[in-house]
Amino acid sequence: MKWWQGLWGASDIAIAPMQRSDAVEASDIHRVLFARPWTDGEIADLLGTANVFGFAAPEASARGGAMTGFVLLRTAADEAEILTIAVRPEWQGHGVGARLMAHVLAHAHRERLASVFLEVGETNAAAAALYRKLGFAVVGDRPEYYRGTSETRTRALVMRHDVTPVRKAR
Ligand SMILES: CC(C)(COP(=O)(O)OP(=O)(O)OC[C@H]1O[C@@H](n2cnc3c(N)ncnc32)[C@H](O)[C@@H]1OP(=O)(O)O)[C@@H](O)C(=O)NCCC(=O)NCCS
Repeated sequence: MKWWQGLWGASDIAIAPMQRSDAVEASDIHRVLFARPWTDGEIADLLGTANVFGFAAPEASARGGAMTGFVLLRTAADEAEILTIAVRPEWQGHGVGARLMAHVLAHAHRERLASVFLEVGETNAAAAALYRKLGFAVVGDRPEYYRGTSETRTRALVMRHDVTPVRKAR
């Protein structure tokens, strides 16, 4: 078992595939975190697009089941691209982002994808640390990026996680 699969398995927050009906909650989270937030309509449209899907992390139903965070990704050929990941501010630092990303990597393994890509603003230390911890490495950069909380454009790092093929037992 990979170490990050242990992270996923240890989660007490169930991770569930996103439905289009999750778009309103997801946009509520996106709005407080990004200078250019995606509307619920945009998120619903994305979720209705071929090869785009997401995972959400709802609180335990005993606590109301509200969404704590979500991740959206798109697959093309044998690659996946993280479109966005967002954790509600009051839930940040509690392992939700790591669990969502571990779920993405487990999915990539199951689907036998070769790699997972993402872009992260170079000043976004928390996100970059999370990705590095999960085995992503910088493979390039892109100027004029402004997907973070600030309208200020910054350089983005392109990061890639190479998915290790699972060897079949003999
Ligand atoms: C980036 C984000 C998704 C991380 O989610 P999270 O649930 O807060 O992260 P976790 O609690 O799972 O932390 C996992 C790891 O990320 C890193 N990390 C998280 N917050 C950090 C911080 N404030 N500073 C430095 N590293 C941090 C650490 O390596 C941490 O591992 P550790 O707890 O063992 O040290 C979340 O902070 C977020 O939604 N940020 C705003 C939106 C955003 O920037 N999205 C990414 C765009 S590319």
